Amino acid sequence: MAFEPLLTRNIHREGSESIDAYLASGGYQGLRRVLKEFTPEKFVEEVKTSGLRGRGGAGFPTGMKWGFLPKGREKPRYLCVNADESEPGTFKDRLLIEKDPHLVLEGIIASAYAIECNLAFFYIRGEFHQGCRTFEKAIAEARARGFLGKNILGSGFDLEIIVYRGAGAYICGEETALLESLEGKRGYPRIKPPFPAVVGLYGCPTIINNVETLANVTLIAERGSAWFAGIGRPPKNTGPKLFCISGHVKRPGVYEAPLGIPFLELLNERAGGMLHPSRPLKAAVPGGSSMKILPASKCDVLLDFDSLAAAGTSLGSAGGMVMDTGTCIVGALLNLARFYAHESCGQCTPCREGTGWLVKILSRLERGDGRPEDVGLLADIAFRIEGNTVCPFGEAIAWPVDSYVKAFREEFEDHARRKACPMRAAAGA
Ligand SMILES: Cc1cc2nc3c(=O)[nH]c(=O)nc-3n(C[C@H](O)[C@H](O)[C@H](O)COP(=O)(O)O)c2cc1C
Ligand code: SF4
Repeated sequence: MAFEPLLTRNIHREGSESIDAYLASGGYQGLRRVLKEFTPEKFVEEVKTSGLRGRGGAGFPTGMKWGFLPKGREKPRYLCVNADESEPGTFKDRLLIEKDPHLVLEGIIASAYAIECNLAFFYIRGEFHQGCRTFEKAIAEARARGFLGKNILGSGFDLEIIVYRGAGAYICGEETALLESLEGKRGYPRIKPPFPAVVGLYGCPTIINNVETLANVTLIAERGSAWFAGIGRPPKNTGPKLFCISGHVKRPGVYEAPLGIPFLELLNERAGGMLHPSRPLKAAVPGGSSMKILPASKCDVLLDFDSLAAAGTSLGSAGGMVMDTGTCIVGALLNLARFYAHESCGQCTPCREGTGWLVKILSRLERGDGRPEDVGLLADIAFRIEGNTVCPFGEAIAWPVDSYVKAFREEFEDHARRKACPMRAAAGA
């Protein structure tokens, strides 16, 4: 069966963000179906059987996460939408928010119904001015048509949504830092457990889901779990997925495909292949900047959670980055390390100090002041960060460092030995 792109079905249409355009394309029928045909428990089961895994990075099964909410209703439950999207090279959620906000909103309402939540928060990156305006307008439109507020579509279900603008810190995309930030505090990640499903926002049970995850809930509401589970690579890698691709490709962008599409197909057929025909692929980070790098010889992989794990990396946020043979790997890693050093929240010593050291060592290697022991030192610092921090931000820099050094050790050693960047030297720079 030919793959039908549904997450991106509206984005190229004129005025795609308006509720009229959305309704004209069959929008909100899925929500009607859920409110009419499903109890909350039954819709949680429906999402479980669809096999949907979170699209925010960790790939945790969405229905199972919803199932972790405590049974009693002593405290209110909250749904927090993670629209912080700050990973370098990842720009898929922004596309949905700006171009098809009702697709996301419909998923939020259906999900809130499933988890019996009457107040949801839309935590959006502060810099997304357009996305924020578009989403607020979508909320107003949905309320005016009876999809939000009291007694939605006569079902007896009430929901309000508050849009909260973050101040643009990468760490506030980490779910517990997001909760701290929403509570008006500095975005310091919390130690887990307890997990937010049990102790979350204001100490209440809270579900945090990614924007694309919730857009997929709309599709499940519309077409059912059996349809969803038949796309991709069942049983564990189901559904459509948005893949970002950037770097040295002809057509960088966001492409929708079933989970499990070959990376080389995404690169060569969707993204138009390498930017400069004379410079072939050197390496790629198929899952995004915080994941492990694959040298070209290992890039013949399928893009899904389990295939990429088997290949020694991860799907992450699917913010793929492509590097051609003109790329200095030391320079690329330095660029990345600078970002992580700047964005570390500073709460734990290995991350706060380690990222700074990484920048220092990579800088001297890159400018030609490196020492032979620096290569081992990089791997050692990464090793000391990994597993020793409050949140997975530590791994998000430790994994790239470790994998770049392992895959391209000679290039790092060459920098130290020659006391210069070999590429710059060759270019006479
Ligand atoms: C440093 C860091 C940054 C993150 N940034 C985001 C983000 O911008 N958006 C997002 O949805 N998840 C982000 N995550 C993952 C969230 O912590 C969380 O797993 C996710 O929002 C859960 O939603 P999902 O189950 O629908 O994937 C980040 C995690 C870390 C460690
Ligand atoms: S790992 Fe880094 S970002 Fe995460 S809590 Fe520790 S210092 Fe902050």
